[in-house]
Amino acid sequence: MAQTVLELKNVSKRYPLAPGSSLEAQGRIAAIDNVSLSLAAGQIYGFAGLNGAGKTTSIKAALGLIQPDSGSIELFGAPIDAAAFNQIGFCPEKPVFYETLTASEIIDFSGRLLNVTVDASRKKQILERVGLYDDRHKRVAAFSKGMQQRLGIACAMLHDPALYILDEPASGLDPLGRRLVKDILLELKQAGKTVFFSTHIISDITEICDKIAIIHNGQILYEGAVDEFCPGHKNGEERFIKIIQDYDSKAAAAKCSVR
Ligand SMILES: Nc1ncnc2c1ncn2[C@@H]1O[C@H](COP(=O)(O)OP(=O)(O)OP(=O)(O)O)[C@@H](O)[C@H]1O
Ligand SMILES: [Mg+2]
Repeated sequence: MAQTVLELKNVSKRYPLAPGSSLEAQGRIAAIDNVSLSLAAGQIYGFAGLNGAGKTTSIKAALGLIQPDSGSIELFGAPIDAAAFNQIGFCPEKPVFYETLTASEIIDFSGRLLNVTVDASRKKQILERVGLYDDRHKRVAAFSKGMQQRLGIACAMLHDPALYILDEPASGLDPLGRRLVKDILLELKQAGKTVFFSTHIISDITEICDKIAIIHNGQILYEGAVDEFCPGHKNGEERFIKIIQDYDSKAAAAKCSVR
């Protein structure tokens, strides 16, 4: 059986509720509530949910960037520790760069942060892969949102990690850019890497993923093989909407019965 590379067990995170916060408006007390997820080596895993569902909070917890209130997290079969980070390529939801640097300089800078040597041919290979080689001498300030997103993915690849954790890697990309990202993720899988990414676009998951989880109101409503979620990889969006609508109707009915 393939090794489990990322496992969240009953992970919850609450933030102090500010009056008028989006959580309070939804009647929620937790950003994530008992989230359990399991990702096996070699899989592409799609993490789906609406705005505010809890995707980024779960990812931050998985990476140790926030401390959960309860639950446990394991990376490569052990509690989170610094050594695990050498094995992870992370691209945040909104990658931020020094805008006065060029793409080429960002690659050099990120390589130094990651403590890896990025020679000219590796830089060319990676920038070509994300379609930015011809723009390598442009300052990031002149980059479109989609170009910055692709540069973020390039930075996550520099140290050739075993596990990629990408928070909405297709955000802001046009259809060609999305195709490019999906092809890169499939190539990573073929190279034996493991990929976890979040998205709002269900068809991107059903097209390339082995496993899907749906998070809604901070809770996991579904986790399973894409083949079972939507046999033939068809009608995934309809299934996603139905799962969410069923949950919302039950929650509304429960609220009425309490009143
Ligand atoms: N630092 C914070 N302080 C207070 N509330 C927060 C904080 N971070 C997230 N939240 C709340 O937790 C909930 C989950 O947010 P999260 O960013 O995880 O959602 P998401 O699924 O990534 O959404 P999106 O698709 O818009 O990126 C939201 O209601 C959000 O307002
Ligand atoms: Mg998010």
